[in-house]
Amino acid sequence: MIGAVDKYSTVRQHSKTTFAVILLTFLLPACKMPPKPTPEPTLVEIGEQIFLNETFAGNGRTCGTCHRPTDNFGLTPSFIATLGDDDPLFVAETNPDLANNFENPVLMREFALILENQDGFGDLANNFNMRGVPHTLAMRTSIDSAAGPRTGWSGDGAPGDGSLRSFATGAVIQHFTKTTNRIPGVDFRLPTDDELDALEAFQLSLGRQAEISLPLPLKGIVAARGQEIFLDNTLGKCNACHFNAGANGNPAIFGPNAGNLNFNTGVENLPDQPAVLSGGKVPPDDGFGTPGNGEFNTPTLVEAADTGPFFHNNSVETIEGSVAFYNGDAFTNSPAGQLLIGATGSAINLDATQVVAVAAFLRVINALENIRSSNELLERVIAAEDRAERFVTPILARARSETRDALDVLRGGGLHPQSVARLMAALDFIEQAQSTTKAKRRTGYARDAIAEHGRARNDLSGP
Ligand code: HEC
Ligand code: HEC
Repeated sequence: MIGAVDKYSTVRQHSKTTFAVILLTFLLPACKMPPKPTPEPTLVEIGEQIFLNETFAGNGRTCGTCHRPTDNFGLTPSFIATLGDDDPLFVAETNPDLANNFENPVLMREFALILENQDGFGDLANNFNMRGVPHTLAMRTSIDSAAGPRTGWSGDGAPGDGSLRSFATGAVIQHFTKTTNRIPGVDFRLPTDDELDALEAFQLSLGRQAEISLPLPLKGIVAARGQEIFLDNTLGKCNACHFNAGANGNPAIFGPNAGNLNFNTGVENLPDQPAVLSGGKVPPDDGFGTPGNGEFNTPTLVEAADTGPFFHNNSVETIEGSVAFYNGDAFTNSPAGQLLIGATGSAINLDATQVVAVAAFLRVINALENIRSSNELLERVIAAEDRAERFVTPILARARSETRDALDVLRGGGLHPQSVARLMAALDFIEQAQSTTKAKRRTGYARDAIAEHGRARNDLSGP
């Protein structure tokens, strides 16, 4: 309000009567800028509202019930543990009509596994898969392939043409129904075309919008070595399928437009899978197609380190373990493993130091992405200074969770203590921004957090 005070004293200098001053004193508050009208919501914002709040006249779930904004739009066992028993995720425990053949509450709570009927609703008691909830980040980079769009762990959509648009319809039929009869108009309503457009726009807006370009100028010795191993076609061989640590095949190997490919990497053949050890019913998952061909869809790795457990069946808890997977018999004997041996003359065979180095690399690129994403959200908070608090609250919550993930992912690998300290400072500023009701202060804290993020990033990677 410095501008208003200046104007006020100028008026006083030039006017002779105190009357004008008194009049102005009364008028000034009335002359305050009227609150800006709330802008028309964008398609992305409309999609966000649908994603988070629309139940499609079903059992009470929304897309956000499983794709949680503060859990990377996915769902982990530790997040599930924070939910109340009345959360709509648990409808199979609270709604008798959904008690059988809809979810496995034990596997859901313990391993964040969700029941899916990828091969149809014909034999509910026997024909189902137990799969983890994938994040819905960076989908702008991870869906297209020469053979059409690839969504879901096996890439075959849910069901339909595999597009993001049709996936939403499949998700409503699978997860939103009031009974296992699944009759549209009775157990749920189907999304309209406009809703599908908005949902698609929102989901495509989430996370990274472009591939990163490897190699990065990483400062940590171990992570930098991990990057070399990752890129080395005779050693880690990861970059063949996860080009630039994304979800697409290396164009030099699979052709310029290969895009997001499917492989049978043998995850289904892992011995001692936790969900199976627990005694739950876990039928073999046949992957892509009906009946399936055993293939699963390549996920992005930039977003991986903070979204475990890993693989379609959440069978490996740590990022180190999921790198080590590629050394074992399950991968080596798989069709993809044999393909790799045919093409390069050897299997993947990394020693413990090398496994940890590749995992350190995956941790660091994940932390860098978390910092980028948190900054983007904080910039949005700054730009929205004159909007209602309820508009910025969820954005700040997401920024906090991204910064928290960066911190956890580095600390979990014993990496970059300097960066961890800066991230703790950033987290503190974000929490202060969350607890103030003053818009200007909130903006100030957001700027402070961005500055700390910059220092944290400088410790991880060069310009
Ligand atoms: C009960 C939990 C649950 C709900 C509710 C849910 N999903 Fe999912 N979602 C999953 C699971 C499990 C998968 C993996 C399915 C697969 O592999 O085919 C998944 C996969 C996805 C994918 C594929 C991501 C990728 O990278 O390929 C998209 C997109 C998606 N869901 C969108 C939605 C939308 C939109 C809604 C709301 C209409 C929704 N989901 C509701 C559990 C859920
Ligand atoms: C032949 C292609 C191929 C190669 C080579 C390959 N991957 Fe994968 N990767 C996949 C596929 C396909 C999946 C999904 C498997 C599943 O869920 O069943 C996957 C999944 C993963 C996951 C789990 C991600 C998540 O979000 O759950 C990690 C981590 C991973 N790969 C890391 C690596 C590393 C590290 C290397 C090199 C040592 C590597 N991959 C080599 C195809 C490949």
